[in-house]
Amino acid sequence: MDKINIQLNNLKNQALKCQNCGLYKTRKNVVFSDGFEKAPIMFIGEAPGKNEDEKGIPFIGRAGQLLRKFLSEVGIGQNDFYIANTIKCRPPKNRKPTQIEKNACRCFLDKQIEFVNPKIIVLVGSTALESFVSDKKLTITKARGNVFEIDNRKFMPIFHPSYLLRHHSVEENSPRDLFKKDLSFIKNEVLNNENH
Ligand code: URA
Repeated sequence: MDKINIQLNNLKNQALKCQNCGLYKTRKNVVFSDGFEKAPIMFIGEAPGKNEDEKGIPFIGRAGQLLRKFLSEVGIGQNDFYIANTIKCRPPKNRKPTQIEKNACRCFLDKQIEFVNPKIIVLVGSTALESFVSDKKLTITKARGNVFEIDNRKFMPIFHPSYLLRHHSVEENSPRDLFKKDLSFIKNEVLNNENH
């Protein structure tokens, strides 16, 4: 095991015991991360759902499977991404995480970003976007597809795949079309560009 694995393992062990907010009382599993620790692309979603809580792995339910399908379609492979959520425990009935829960969990997310040190952070959906951008007028519809920098880190928001579960069209500029274009852009920016 090298340094990054050890750092992330220690962090995960702390998260497994975490009682920083009330969600520890109802969780089945802490959902820490999936993917490659040295990946150039880091995805940050909202919160674990039922399937994720049961297995302890992020993005394995319907929305997660859709995201993973699109990733493989555009050629983003297993070793290209690391994936986590703004909070690590499932909120009851899949409600949105509260600010208290997000604040309580933020230490884990910030350390994950520091240790993985990705070339780009992809904010999956509005909850992840709001965790990094305080401008309430910047909705996910406006923000998606745009790369911006905060503290020398690159970020790009994309739609949440659960939104795509309600929009099936693949016509030009449909949510699914834009989602795929955003992922292709990320792939080209990060994986095909030696200058990063
Ligand atoms: N939605 C998320 O935002 N994260 C998951 O892990 C699963 C569904």
